[in-house]
Amino acid sequence: MHTTTAEQTAALPGRSADRVRILIERFAALTEPGKGPGITRLAYSPLERSAHAEFTAYMEELGLQVSTDAAGNTIAELPGSDPRLPALGTGSHLDSVPNGGAFDGIAGVVAAMEVARTLVGQPIPTRHTIRFVAFAAEEGARFGQACTGSRIVAGLTGPKDLPGLMDGDGVSVADAMRAINIDPQGISDAVWDENDWAGFIELHIEQGSVLTDAGLPVGVVDLISGSTRIRIDITGRASHTGGTPMHLRADALAASAQIVLAAEGLAKDSRHHGTRITVGKLDVHPGSITTIPGHCQLHVDVRDVDNDRQRFSTSELIAAAHEIAAHRGVGISVEVLADASPVVLPVTIRNAITASAASLGLEYRVMPSGASHDTQMINHVCPGGMIFVPSRNHGVSHSPDELTDFEDLAVGIELLTASLVHLDASSPSTSDN
Ligand code: GLV
Ligand code: MN
Ligand code: MN
Repeated sequence: MHTTTAEQTAALPGRSADRVRILIERFAALTEPGKGPGITRLAYSPLERSAHAEFTAYMEELGLQVSTDAAGNTIAELPGSDPRLPALGTGSHLDSVPNGGAFDGIAGVVAAMEVARTLVGQPIPTRHTIRFVAFAAEEGARFGQACTGSRIVAGLTGPKDLPGLMDGDGVSVADAMRAINIDPQGISDAVWDENDWAGFIELHIEQGSVLTDAGLPVGVVDLISGSTRIRIDITGRASHTGGTPMHLRADALAASAQIVLAAEGLAKDSRHHGTRITVGKLDVHPGSITTIPGHCQLHVDVRDVDNDRQRFSTSELIAAAHEIAAHRGVGISVEVLADASPVVLPVTIRNAITASAASLGLEYRVMPSGASHDTQMINHVCPGGMIFVPSRNHGVSHSPDELTDFEDLAVGIELLTASLVHLDASSPSTSDN
């Protein structure tokens, strides 16, 4: 007999870590078959929708009102005792990169499910309505742009921004949306009203090893890195590998290799300390052992917590790539695929998290995030905060080896619950106005 996730987890009343494990494993089972190791559940794919359906079923079984908005984000609502107060929110994303791990994003959604379960069981409701959100299409791996679902609710991406966002198979984001019954022209209906939101806290795995190395149970994020993503096309001359002498070649891959090393050198340069530049995708055409590569396409991700340095490093890389192309006699064109600025998270939410950590006796570190997160976008609507839980396996993420201890996740969820309850109790009441 098929048991639902809520039924399975209800059978484990006392142990948050055990319930969390069941939920993580349920989501991990939703992966593209035959796509190699790890989890592949891409942005705006049918499998991502299946994960949202799992979230919906769980929250409905808890008795929450659940809806999926015009951008594919799923929102479950637990009404508060004072309907005039704006809502507090928590959540994260359910999509993955190709061959990713079981925790990136999922940990924050599972945390929201677990917080909902706790709050539903409380005899006294919260004052604020609490919304639990599974964002759509957070990963930029498929379409280049990260946080598409949360960008849409924040009004940062609208229908006119969708053309040009294509995946590696030439499927546009608009076509991918249509294939799962989302109308790309209607996405602006999902925009959040800032008067309707009081604050948002996202729990996420750290995706680094700072917490594990320091032996700390939680991190409190103060700053989220920005990211500029560019595509560089190098056009050389395809020709016979035996017949063409070395001095007569225009080898697109040799030029690309030099650009990859220039990117690494630029990021390691002391003037750019803290910049991270990665060429994560390099397509070589025609891709034959007996043909000199005639065309290469590089996908480059420039990340920084410093707004100016992020843009400056990108410009320097583009200039270096042009110089290399000119020197090697190959053609070059550059296109910006996506650009998001770093975000400083407000001290109000951070203080609620640190005060809650202190009251739970949890040591914490205030720290920046190198990765992008939905909260980066939500912070444009209402004050946002983030809790990190430790990543094991040297902090690897976007990899099948991504690992977080379920006990560590349960501790983070306890802090998330306490922080939301703290915010709920400490906001001014409507009668104070
Ligand atoms: C999101 O996972 C990112 O790429 O930072
Ligand atoms: Mn994530
Ligand atoms: Mn990710």
